[in-house]
Amino acid sequence: MAATVEEALLTRRSVRAFRPEPVPRAEVERLLALAARSASNSNCQPWHVHVLTGEPKRRLTEALWQALHGDGRVEREFPYQPAPEDWEEPFRSRRRKFGESLYRDTLGIAADDTEGRLGHHRRNYDFFGAPVGLILTVSRRPLAGALVDAGLFLQALMLAARHAGLDTCPQASFLDFHPVLRRHLAIPDDRIVVCGLALGHADHEHRLSRHRTPREPVAGFTTFHGDESA
Ligand SMILES: Cc1cc2nc3c(=O)[nH]c(=O)nc-3n(C[C@H](O)[C@H](O)[C@H](O)COP(=O)(O)O)c2cc1C
Repeated sequence: MAATVEEALLTRRSVRAFRPEPVPRAEVERLLALAARSASNSNCQPWHVHVLTGEPKRRLTEALWQALHGDGRVEREFPYQPAPEDWEEPFRSRRRKFGESLYRDTLGIAADDTEGRLGHHRRNYDFFGAPVGLILTVSRRPLAGALVDAGLFLQALMLAARHAGLDTCPQASFLDFHPVLRRHLAIPDDRIVVCGLALGHADHEHRLSRHRTPREPVAGFTTFHGDESA
């Protein structure tokens, strides 16, 4: 559990291995109510959350695995990220280092081991074993503002979870098969899927629990204008 905001920020990480232990619905509702305190453009609150547990979650996972292992055709509704060859520096290098640290160094999966990589990737669709899977959607119009608001909502939810001793993993992987989500969750056309989020208790025994990501120092992404005492 994180007692302070600082501790929640420092201990939050993307957890990719969970214990099956359930999270009571009242607790999920409490965390969502806290996340809904997030700022949003003109207080639009453009988010809608689908909470999946038990059988509905299992059925969604099955359908997503079928889509992944079927023709695997990916249908992206909005350009969340460039194609692998189109990434530019410094993001290209950071992305490569992240992939190496997760797949090669933590999981022992080589870069050319396509099957091994797919084996890990497919775990996204069972929310890495978390007992609760969330799918976040926002209104399609105005999209840019709603996406910013969704980011604030997600971060607030992840920090509230940490304060409650829970862990999370934000998951854009779900965007690849948004038609499956639309069908299963009856998501109307005027909303788009932004992200999934695994929620539960981290499995600290799993080798994935060793994975950590570095950050650029403040000087690397900040320009101060004005004197030091301001
Ligand atoms: C919007 C968003 C989508 C993400 N999608 C995925 C995903 O689909 N699968 C995954 O394993 N991690 C996903 N991540 C986690 C990032 O890889 C992770 O946040 C980043 O490497 C930094 O590591 P940390 O969260 O442990 O600090 C996502 C993160 C964000 C913010």
